[in-house]
Amino acid sequence: MKLAVIGTGYVGLVSGVCFALGENQVICVDKDVEKINKLNRMESPIYEPGIEALIEINFREGRLSFSTDLQESVRCSDIIILAVGTPSLPNGEVNLQYIEDAVIEIANAMDGYKIIMTKSTVVVGTNEKIRKMISDRTTHPFDIVSAPEFLREGSAIRDTLHPDRVVIGLNNPELVPIMRQLHQGYTDNIFVTDIRSAEMIKYASNAFLATKISFINEISNICEKVGADVTEVAEGMGMDRRIGSSFLQAGIGYGGSCFPKDTNALIQIAGNVDYDFKLLQSVVEVNRERRFMIIPKLRESLGTLNGAVIGIWGLAFKPNTDDVRETPAREIIEMLVAEGAIVKLYDPIAADNFRQQYDHPQLRWCSLPEEAAEDSDAICLLTAWGVFKDINLQKVANVMHRKVLIDGRNVYTKEQIEGTGLSYYSIGRPQ
Ligand code: UGA
Repeated sequence: MKLAVIGTGYVGLVSGVCFALGENQVICVDKDVEKINKLNRMESPIYEPGIEALIEINFREGRLSFSTDLQESVRCSDIIILAVGTPSLPNGEVNLQYIEDAVIEIANAMDGYKIIMTKSTVVVGTNEKIRKMISDRTTHPFDIVSAPEFLREGSAIRDTLHPDRVVIGLNNPELVPIMRQLHQGYTDNIFVTDIRSAEMIKYASNAFLATKISFINEISNICEKVGADVTEVAEGMGMDRRIGSSFLQAGIGYGGSCFPKDTNALIQIAGNVDYDFKLLQSVVEVNRERRFMIIPKLRESLGTLNGAVIGIWGLAFKPNTDDVRETPAREIIEMLVAEGAIVKLYDPIAADNFRQQYDHPQLRWCSLPEEAAEDSDAICLLTAWGVFKDINLQKVANVMHRKVLIDGRNVYTKEQIEGTGLSYYSIGRPQ
C-alpha cells in the first residue's frame, strides 16, 4: 500500500518506519525543512533507540522517503496518516491547529479516493470534524479512520512492532480487511470499534495508567508511615492478573508530553459535557505535589539548602529518551535554585534539551555522574537511567562531601548501599 504520514515526531516517524518494514511504500512528510533534510541524510530528528538503523534499511531499499511537499505526497498515496502534534492550550484544552492546517491541505490536494487515518491524539468528535472539513472542500470520495497510538518513547519501535492491540475506529466495515492488511506481519490483534469510542480509548488508557501511578505513589506515602515497603506491595499486588504489575512503580511522579496533557484534556472533555471527573482531578493533583517530596527529604538530611551543593542524576522525564517535556526534574531544580543551592546536573542524553529550556548561574553542567557527585552534599536520582543502576556507589560516596543519596525512582537495594557510608532515602520503603 502507498502511505503518506504527515508529521515526523515520535508517532509519525516511528509509524512510518514500521509500516515501511511491512512492504508498504511510505512518504514521511513534515513542513520543517531541517527535519526532512536530516532524514534524507538518514539521521533521526528524534532520539529513539533503534530508529536510525530502520530508517536506513527502509530508505536504502526504497520503501521510505521524506518530503516537505504535503500535497504531492497525498496525491501519490492511498492512505494518509495524520500524526501531527496536538499540544495543550494554556487552559488544558487540546490545540487542534496543526490537525486543521494539515486537513485543509489534504482536502485541497485530493485527486481520488483516500483513507484518512488519524494517529494524533484528538478529542472525541475530532474525526467527525475532519470528515466535515474535507467534505466541505472536495467532492472526491474518502473514509475516516481513528487509529490512536499507544507507543511509549524509549521503546517506541518495539511497542509498534509488537503492540498489545491496535485500535481502529471506523464506520465503513469495508475498511476492516484493508486495516488488517496494513498491520499484517506484526499483529492480528485488531480491535475494531466506532470512531468516537476509539478516540475515547486513547484518553481512557492514558488516564488509567496515570491513575495507577498516582495510586501507587499515594500507597508509598502510607508505606513510609506504617513501615511497609512499596516495592514489595506493588510486586504482591501485580501478581493478581486483574491488577497487573506494570505502571506500579512509585517515584517522583509522571511527566512527558502525554500523561500530563491527556489527563488534563480528559478532565476538560468531561467538563464540556458537565461531568466533574473528580477521580482524575485527584490523580493530577497527587502527581503535581509528588515532585516536591524530594525537598523535605533533603531539608531533613541537610538542614538548610542555602549554599548546599546538590547533584542531580537524570533530567529526562524517563530513561531512554532525550525528552524533557513536563519532566519532574524541572520544578525540583527550580526549587533548589530558589532555596540557594548550587546544583550540579548530569543526564546521559537529555542535558542539552534541558539547558535550552532552563539555565541559571547556580547550575553546573556535568559530563559524568561522578562529576555531579564530586563535593556534593547530596545526590538526587530523578530518572532511572541504567548508568545510575550500575554505578560504583562506593566510589561515588568517596568523592561526596556530606554523603546523602535521595533515590527518587527506587533504583537501589539496601544491599547496594550497605557499607558505602551513604545516608540513603528512597520512596515508600523503610529507611
Ligand atoms: C505514554 C503511554 O504509556 C503510551 O501508551 C502512549 O502511547 C503515550 O503516552 C502517548 O500518549 O503518546 P510515554 O509518555 O512515552 O507513553 O511514557 P511512559 O512510559 O508511559 O511513562 C510516562 C511517565 O510515567 C514517565 O515519567 C515515567 O517515569 C512515569 N512512570 C511510569 C512512573 O512513574 N511509574 C511507572 O510505574 C510507570
